Amino acid sequence: PRPIFLTRHGESEDNVRGRIGGDPVLSEAGEKYALKLADFVHKRLKNESAASIWTSTLQRTGITARHIEEFPKVQWRVLDEINAGVCDGMTYEEIKQHMPEEYSARKADKLRYRYPRGESYLDVIQRVEPVIVELERQRSPVVVIAHQAILRSLYAYFMDKPLKEVPHIQVPLHTIIEIQMGVAGMQEKRYKLME
Ligand code: G3H
Repeated sequence: PRPIFLTRHGESEDNVRGRIGGDPVLSEAGEKYALKLADFVHKRLKNESAASIWTSTLQRTGITARHIEEFPKVQWRVLDEINAGVCDGMTYEEIKQHMPEEYSARKADKLRYRYPRGESYLDVIQRVEPVIVELERQRSPVVVIAHQAILRSLYAYFMDKPLKEVPHIQVPLHTIIEIQMGVAGMQEKRYKLME
C-alpha cells in the first residue's frame, strides 16, 4: 500500500513572530528544513518509480518543496491555510488586545468559530474534501506540504479522530507524519528531522 507523508512548511518568518496568515517566506531554520526534507524524500522514496509532491499555493510550501527534484509537484488552492479573515496578519496577542470577543469566542469553540470574513475549522474540513478523495485514489506515494489547520483536518480524517479534537491535534514543525494502511488499520510514523 502507498504511504502518505504529511508535513508543514518549514518555519516561516511569521511563525517566528507568532503572526497568523499572510504569505511569508521561510526563516533560516525553515530553509534548513527544506534541505532536510528533500534528503528524506530522496532516501525514503528512492525505489519508487512514481510519487508526487502536493503543496498549497502559498509560497512557504513551494519554497519548502523546492529542493525535491525527482517527482512532479502539484499546487492545490484548497490546501491553503485556514483563512483568518480580518485577523490575517495579526498575532494572537494582538487579537486578544484589540478583538477580545473574537479571541474568547474562538477559545470557547475553536471547531465552529469562524473568523469574520474568514473560515472556521468546519469550513476547512469541508474544503479539503476533494484532496482527500484524490489522496485515496493515488496508486503511488504522495508528500503533502501544507499548513497546520489543513494537516490537522487531513490527519483527523485518515486517523479517524473525532471532529472536536481536530483543532487541537499536534502537528509540529519540521516533522514528517507518515500514514499507511496496515493490516490492523491505519499506522502512523513520525520523523522529527530537526528541532
Ligand atoms: O495560521 C494559522 C495556524 O497555523 C492555525 O493555528 O488554528 O491553532 O490558531 P490555530
